[in-house]
Amino acid sequence: MNSENTYPPGFLWGAATAAYQIEGAVAEDGRGPSIWDTFSHRPGAVLRGDTGDIACDHYHRWESDLDLLVELGVNSYRFSVAWSRVLPTGAGAVNQAGLDFYGRLVDGLLERDITPMVTLYHWDLPQALQDVGGWANRDTADRFADYAGIVHRSLGDRVPYWLTLNEPYCSAFVGHLEGRHAPGIRDEATAVTALHHLLLAHGKGVQTLRADGVSGQVGITLNLTSVRAGSDAQEDVEAARRLDLFENRMFLDPVLRGQYPDDARAFYDGVTGFEFVHDGDLETINAPLDYFGVNYYERHAAVADPRDPVRGWAKVPPAEPTISGISVEPVGLKEILHRVADEYTTLPLIVTETGQALFDYVDPEREINDAERVHFYRSHIEAATEAMNDGVDLVGFFPWSFMDNFEWAWGYGHRFGMYFVDYATQERIPKQSAHWYASWLRQVGAREPLSALQVP
Ligand code: FCB
Repeated sequence: MNSENTYPPGFLWGAATAAYQIEGAVAEDGRGPSIWDTFSHRPGAVLRGDTGDIACDHYHRWESDLDLLVELGVNSYRFSVAWSRVLPTGAGAVNQAGLDFYGRLVDGLLERDITPMVTLYHWDLPQALQDVGGWANRDTADRFADYAGIVHRSLGDRVPYWLTLNEPYCSAFVGHLEGRHAPGIRDEATAVTALHHLLLAHGKGVQTLRADGVSGQVGITLNLTSVRAGSDAQEDVEAARRLDLFENRMFLDPVLRGQYPDDARAFYDGVTGFEFVHDGDLETINAPLDYFGVNYYERHAAVADPRDPVRGWAKVPPAEPTISGISVEPVGLKEILHRVADEYTTLPLIVTETGQALFDYVDPEREINDAERVHFYRSHIEAATEAMNDGVDLVGFFPWSFMDNFEWAWGYGHRFGMYFVDYATQERIPKQSAHWYASWLRQVGAREPLSALQVP
C-alpha cells in the first residue's frame, strides 16, 4: 500500500481505549460505582467472572502507557472519562480527585505532542443514576449534560476533540434488549426509550458545550454496520431494510436529520408509541456537530426469516467467522463511509474504532504474531483510504485498541490490543500489529510537524 502524500495535513492517526476497559482502580480517589461494576460482578454476566476491578491498571500506569503511545508513533489518542470518577453518584458534588486524573492525562498527552480526543460516555453510567431508572429515565439526559459541562469546564482549554456518546446502539440495545451488557435489562420498550434518552443526552451535551463556548470540535460516535440483502427477492430486500433501520437508521436519522425514520413507528408498533418524544427533542438531538465518528466492525447480508415473527430477518452466517462470530470485510468500512457521506452529512468523518479480536499469546521467542490483525489493519486502512480518495472527507483513523483490555461480556479472553497485556504482571508487549502500525505511522509521517507534511 502506497502512503506517499495521500493523507491531508493534520490527519489524526490514533489509537482508542475506554475508561472501564483499562483503568481499574474502581474504588480509588472517590470513584463511585458504575453499572459495569455492578453488572460485571453479577454471576454469569461476564465470561469466567472477569471484572474491570483491576483491568490494565492504567489509572496507576498512565504515564508509562502514554510513553508507549509515543513509541507507537500516534499523533492522537481517544480515551473516555469515567462519569462516576467525576461525579460519584452521577450528579451533585464534583470529585476533584477524579477530574484531576483526567487533567494529568490530558497534560501528559499534550507534553508528548499527542492530541487528546475525549469520549464523555463509553457505557459506564453511574450506578446511582441506574438506581433511579438509568437511561429509561428522561432526567438522565439532563444529568449527562451537567456532567459534560463539568468535564468541559475543566479540560476544555486543552481538548480539541470531544465525543458525547460511544455507540448508543450498544448502550440501548445490547444493554436493554439483549441484556448482554450493563444494566442487563431485556425489554424492548425500555430499550427504545433508553435509545431516545441517550440521543437526547447527546443533543443536550452538545448544547451545553456550545453554551460554554467550546473551542474544540464536537461529535458523536455511532457503530454502523454495512447491511445488504442476501438476494434480490422482495422479502430479503425488506428484511435488509428492517435490519438497517434497527442497526443504523434509528441512530443516523435522528442525529443527522432530526427525525426518526418513516418506518420506525410501524417497526415498533405494539412495542412503543414513541410517547417519550417531547416537542423539541429531535431538534436538540440534531444539534449541529463539527465532525462525525464511525466505529466499524460488522457487515451483514440479511434474508427474510419467517421463524422470527417480530423482526423477520436472519443474518447470513459468515463463511469465515472470527472468534467474535463476525467476518473480516474491509469493504464494509468503505461502504459505510460512503453511505454517511453520500446520504447523511458533509461533516468530516473519523473512524473512531475498528479492530479484530484474537486469542493472542506470547510465543517462546516472546513475540506475539498477530498476523491476522496486521492484515485487518492494513486492509481497513486501505478501504478507508479508498473512500477518502473517492472524495469522502475522512480526517482520522483510530484502531481499537491501543492495548488488550476488559472486552465487556467477553472479559479478558478476547484481545483487541496492539499491545499485549500480561494481566498477571501488567507487562505490556508490542504485538506484530504494533510494529506494523508503528512503521505505517512513520511512513505517513504521523508525528511530523504539520509544516513538514504540507511540503509537496
Ligand atoms: C466496540 C466498543 C469498544 C470495544 C470494541 C471491541 O463496540 O465501543 O469498547 O469493546 O467494540
